Amino acid sequence: MKKWYSVRMRSSKGGSHENGGQHISGAERLVTPVELETTTTEMIRRATMHTRGEADFISLKIESIQPSEIQYILPLCVKEIINESHHTTKKVLQEQLVSSPIPQELLFSLYDWIIQDNVTRGAAVIDINSGKRMDPMIDRGVRVSHFDWDKEFKDKWSTEKLGVYNERRAEAIALASKVAAAGTICEICCSDDPEYTTGYLTYQHNFIRIPNMKQKNSPYGGRVFFVDAKKLDIDEYIHYLETTPVFIGGIS
Ligand code: COA
Repeated sequence: MKKWYSVRMRSSKGGSHENGGQHISGAERLVTPVELETTTTEMIRRATMHTRGEADFISLKIESIQPSEIQYILPLCVKEIINESHHTTKKVLQEQLVSSPIPQELLFSLYDWIIQDNVTRGAAVIDINSGKRMDPMIDRGVRVSHFDWDKEFKDKWSTEKLGVYNERRAEAIALASKVAAAGTICEICCSDDPEYTTGYLTYQHNFIRIPNMKQKNSPYGGRVFFVDAKKLDIDEYIHYLETTPVFIGGIS
């Protein structure tokens, strides 16, 4: 059986994350032994050349993973929609989620929250029935990890679906596909990058890009996963998102 490794990089400024440093960048891959060297070199390059600033701390972790634990899922279908300005974002979200079981008030209050969030390090998991946070650590949230594209699938898929290849977008689609496969009803994501205002929404196997999700130059952003807590075991859901190795595309 083929051997696989999870390779994870995170960088920060002003000390390590654990010592209060500011997060600069993160990246992760699932690779074979022969890919380890090039992958780690690429990650170190990414850590040292980021628009958010120069990192003075880099953590690089390499862990072997059990091939029997690996799961394979399909990517979401990518859709583009028009959203002229951040003033119309709520209307757009409401239109896209008109058939969803998410109450409008809850949707709008979580949208208001993600575009102002500068605390949560991962995503907030929200129960659509009670409107309550289901993840246990409020400032931490849930961070999706241990996922990657199946390389051959990605090469073919990205040429067909993405047109000009965009690494950032491909990473977001991979992450969102794992989130959806976990049983999430809808994800809404808005980057905290002041220059990057395009966010996304996922619903019914679609990844819908939303331009002007937030106001330009805003340094805030966040992520929310809507779930039906009556139909999910939350501990299993979080465990899957954080630790189960998942390849997007390909077959086992
Ligand atoms: N943003 C801010 N802080 C982060 C972070 C992120 N994306 N990822 C890690 N950290 C910091 C946190 O302080 C964290 O402590 P916490 O668990 O109490 O929150 C600390 O680093 C250690 O995190 P850990 O999960 O042990 O990091 P890791 O070495 O296993 O690396 C990454 C994980 C960085 C590769 C992963 O989080 C990541 O960013 N993957 C890229 C895809 C992605 O963007 N996922 C997150 C979306 S929800």
